[in-house]
Amino acid sequence: AYEKLWLALSIVLILLLIGSVTYGAVGPGIAMVSDSGGQIDATALDEDDRFADPRVEQVGENSYEVYVVAFQYGFDPGTIDPIVVPENSEVTFYITSPDVIHGFEVVGTNANTMVVPGEVAEITVEANEPREYGIVCNEYCGAGHHDMEGTMEVV
Ligand code: CUA
Repeated sequence: AYEKLWLALSIVLILLLIGSVTYGAVGPGIAMVSDSGGQIDATALDEDDRFADPRVEQVGENSYEVYVVAFQYGFDPGTIDPIVVPENSEVTFYITSPDVIHGFEVVGTNANTMVVPGEVAEITVEANEPREYGIVCNEYCGAGHHDMEGTMEVV
């Protein structure tokens, strides 16, 4: 009888864990709304409408889409130029990689996803208050992994 109880308890715990990862509130001023994916040809990003020209694009009054290429070693946009979005906006990131697996984490929040070549990671956040966020890669991706950083500015 105890075995069944423990099994039930662990299932509940696993469900709670999944729930908190998927829907958890994140740091001050930013909240993760969704996290899903899509497929892409990693060898032909320069022919893709979104990733040939990585950018921030306004798609509604308060909504923005950001197309990010995570590469060895940086984020475009993000590393050389910061990702800049206005406060009180909903921002959906589409992130892909042309080379190896990377991570995309908005530091201090739980907006955090793996970036796999051939797939498009999607994260929606609410950028409520003006502040600056660091972006880091949290998957080991080679010698420059520890320097793979970027910035998002909510202005
Ligand atoms: Cu990219 Cu670690």
